Parts: sequence; C-alpha cells; structure tokens
Amino acid sequence: MERFPLAILGPGALGLHFAARLGGIVPVALIARDAAGAARLNAGVEVGGQGFHPNAFAAEEAPEADWVIVLVKAGDTAAAAATAERMHPLGVLSLQNGLTGELLRAHCAAPRVEQGITTEGAYRERGDGADRIYPSGAGETLVPPGFEAVAELLGRAGLRARVEPDIAAARLAKLLVNVAINPLAALFRVPNGTLLEPPHRVLLDTLVREALPVLRAHGLELDEAAALARVHAVARATAANRASMLQDLLAGRRTEIDAITGALLRMAARTGSELPTHRAVQVLVRALESADDGRAAPAAC
Ligand SMILES: NC(=O)c1ccc[n+]([C@@H]2O[C@H](COP(=O)([O-])OP(=O)(O)OC[C@H]3O[C@@H](n4cnc5c(N)ncnc54)[C@H](OP(=O)(O)O)[C@@H]3O)[C@@H](O)[C@H]2O)c1
Repeated sequence: MERFPLAILGPGALGLHFAARLGGIVPVALIARDAAGAARLNAGVEVGGQGFHPNAFAAEEAPEADWVIVLVKAGDTAAAAATAERMHPLGVLSLQNGLTGELLRAHCAAPRVEQGITTEGAYRERGDGADRIYPSGAGETLVPPGFEAVAELLGRAGLRARVEPDIAAARLAKLLVNVAINPLAALFRVPNGTLLEPPHRVLLDTLVREALPVLRAHGLELDEAAALARVHAVARATAANRASMLQDLLAGRRTEIDAITGALLRMAARTGSELPTHRAVQVLVRALESADDGRAAPAAC
C-alpha cells in the first residue's frame, strides 16, 4: 500500500479542517475509527463551505505514513496511539487539548512521540447526510523540535505554524487557559466571554490563582498578573465561542476533563499540593457526564 507523507488520526472538527488544508499540498491519509466512518468520509464532506474528498481509511487498515498528527479526543488517545504505531511513522504529533503525551508514548513506540499545541479552531455539525465542518478562527500551531517537516507542511498549507523550542512551557500555558475556561463554561453553560462577568469571574480567577503555583513549579514562567491577563485575553478573543467541554456535555459525550483538570491535579499531587476548587470542578463535570446514565438507570428504591 502507498506510504503517505502525512496522516491525520481523528477525522473530527479539527482533523478535517487540517486535512482539507493540508490535502491541497500533499497526499494526506485520514484515519477514521472504523470502516463505516471511512466510507462516510470517502463519500465527501463539507469543510468551510467547500466539498472535500479525503483519502480516508479505517484504523485497522491505516497505511504507513511519515508523520501522524493525532486529533482524537483525549479519551480515545490509547487506541489512536496503537494505530499510529502500526503506521511506522518517523514521528507522531498530538495537537490535542490537555496533557496526552505520556499516554501516547505508553502506547506508541515511534521514534518521536510528542505533543504540540494549536489555537486553530473548528466545529462540526452532524446531519443525516455528510458532516459539515466550520473553521472558527485562524490560530497558531506550535510544534516541538524534531517536527520541522510538519511545521513546514502546515505553513505551506496556509496554517500559521512554527517550531517552539520550549514546547513544555507552551503546553503548560495552554493548560492554564484550558483548566480555567473549559470546565467553567461547561458547568455554567455559557459562552467563554460570559466568564469575564460576575458571578463567574470570581471562580475563573480563583481557578487561575490556584493552578498557577503548580504550573510554575513545573516550568511555567508567568506571574499572577500575566496569568490572569492571558486567561482573560483568551476569554475575550473567544467571547462568542462555546468551549468544547460545553459542547461535549450538551451532546451527551464524554468530556476531556481527565486530560485537562485531571492532568493538573496529578501534577499537584506530585508536589503535594491541594487544589480544592479544581477538584470540585472535576467532580461536578464528572457528575454531569454521568447524569444521562443515572436517568437511564432503574430507580434503586
Ligand atoms: N475543535 C477545536 O476547535 C479544537 C481546538 C484546539 C484543540 N482541539 C483538540 O483537538 C482534539 C480533537 O478535537 P475535535 O474538536 O476535532 O474533536 P471531534 O470533533 O470529536 O473529533 C474527534 C474525532 O476522532 C475520531 N476518533 C475517535 N477515536 C478514534 C480512533 N481510535 N481512531 C480514529 N479516529 C478516532 C472521532 O470519531 P467518532 O466521530 O466516530 O467518535 C472523531 O471523528 C481534542 O483534543 C480537542 O480538545 C480542538
């Protein structure tokens, strides 16, 4: 079977947005969960108002590829990592939210397995027919050293991308934003900008202040004023957006709370810190995730 220069594992909102752009400059293999998913994609999808006909494959038939970009939700990382390993890549790059690098490395022994970050955005509308993908604002993609070839392909496809020497610090800065905005937007069911207003603002700032010492202990070089300013700026820039955790809860899907707030709490445990507000937020999001199961279960008494 043909070896592809690039593959994207996870043909969702962001995966299809990237695949459509990159597919214009290089052959891209798009890896779906199963044969039905691949067949649906091969029939064509709409990305940004344009028809797109990808080279889609089921995970069990994934071809070899030089570089694999992982864009499944965090809960599907282990399965995606195993697929990526079977593709014999030079490198596997996660652009997922949360911290998934360790999990990827545990399930994939490719020569390079790393996590970058992206502030590109896209959302998906699922209909009875083909999915529709709406890119929701151009951002920037930062990749670790060793992934220069991927940054170059992204740049040629018109996506802003660069190699970030201190990718660990960039991941922590993204995690700071994610642990503050995503769970609160999901719990209060509000667009990101509303978190800047009372009564949500006090909780937003509490989450930032509580997370900061742990993130600083792991290498994030931001003082409190700069950390608050960064989170506020993202909430302002994405004021009308519904965070992915909110979209997941509303659609009855599992959220990425364990890779986001859970990752922060695991880091805190390593330094012996307690983060009571983040712990409470995690418990609340998990309770909402399982609310559907609870309603479906027969009454105990
Ligand atoms: N969307 C954004 O704007 C955005 C921005 C920055 C970062 N991110 C991050 O990027 C990641 C992807 O987000 P998304 O919004 O694109 O999610 P999404 O729309 O839910 O897409 C995930 C895709 O992965 C597929 N998948 C799941 N397990 C798989 C497997 N084992 N093999 C192959 N495909 C598999 C899913 O298939 P099914 O449909 O069959 O479940 C789905 O098509 C997340 O970590 C997210 O936090 C997203």
